[in-house]
Amino acid sequence: MHNGIVRKHHWDQFYSKILCDKPGWYTPHLHASLCWIDQLYIPHYAPIIDIGGGESTFAEDLVEAGFRSVTVLDISGKALTNAQERMGRKKRLVTWQEGDVASVNLPVHYYELWHDRAAFHYFTREDERQCYRESLFNGLKPGGHLIIGTYAPEAPPRCSGLPVRRYTVGELEAFLGDEFVLQRQRKEQHVTPNGKGKMFLFCHFQRRS
Ligand SMILES: C[S@@+](CC[C@H](N)C(=O)[O-])C[C@H]1O[C@@H](n2cnc3c(N)ncnc32)[C@H](O)[C@@H]1O
Repeated sequence: MHNGIVRKHHWDQFYSKILCDKPGWYTPHLHASLCWIDQLYIPHYAPIIDIGGGESTFAEDLVEAGFRSVTVLDISGKALTNAQERMGRKKRLVTWQEGDVASVNLPVHYYELWHDRAAFHYFTREDERQCYRESLFNGLKPGGHLIIGTYAPEAPPRCSGLPVRRYTVGELEAFLGDEFVLQRQRKEQHVTPNGKGKMFLFCHFQRRS
């Protein structure tokens, strides 16, 4: 079966099962990302995309902060439906896109901000990482911002039943190449709902104009 179909099946199944329990990566609000975005003074009309946004409150919080061009892209339609149900009437203020970031057609050089918390690290194969990179280079406008949160080397090698690739800052820089300039980095110990610590690395890069 095609890898993208397998991935979609995995995530739809996953979101169908977690009715009561929060998933391991759950956090009520993505404070690290929101705080950095606040400091970037991005205009409220600027297009923002959240890659693998799942059920997170990130899009909702951006809408609350006044942003009016927020897209959530996720491979799982089930995750998007769950997030929409939680948002109620405000879901209309977000664009919901079901798709695989590795193969999706995004508008060219359109997004001011590309945000990804805990989706990129599932791209373990080199060909898949290159597909992700192509989508990023296609979708993010020159001068635009990338905020990415991945597992750091101290984190476990698997998450939600899938292998993950863990990153140092240098590895993220090598992946992105010269076109992206590191602006900020921080490590954050995420505590899962069942009390386990998982180290995240957050980086903010800006694409050269
Ligand atoms: C660990 S969850 C993180 C969810 C959310 N970003 C957060 O921080 O709460 C990973 C998310 O990425 C999505 N995902 C996995 N592979 C993807 C792909 N190839 N394209 C788009 N979304 C993907 C999953 O469906 C899931 O919602």
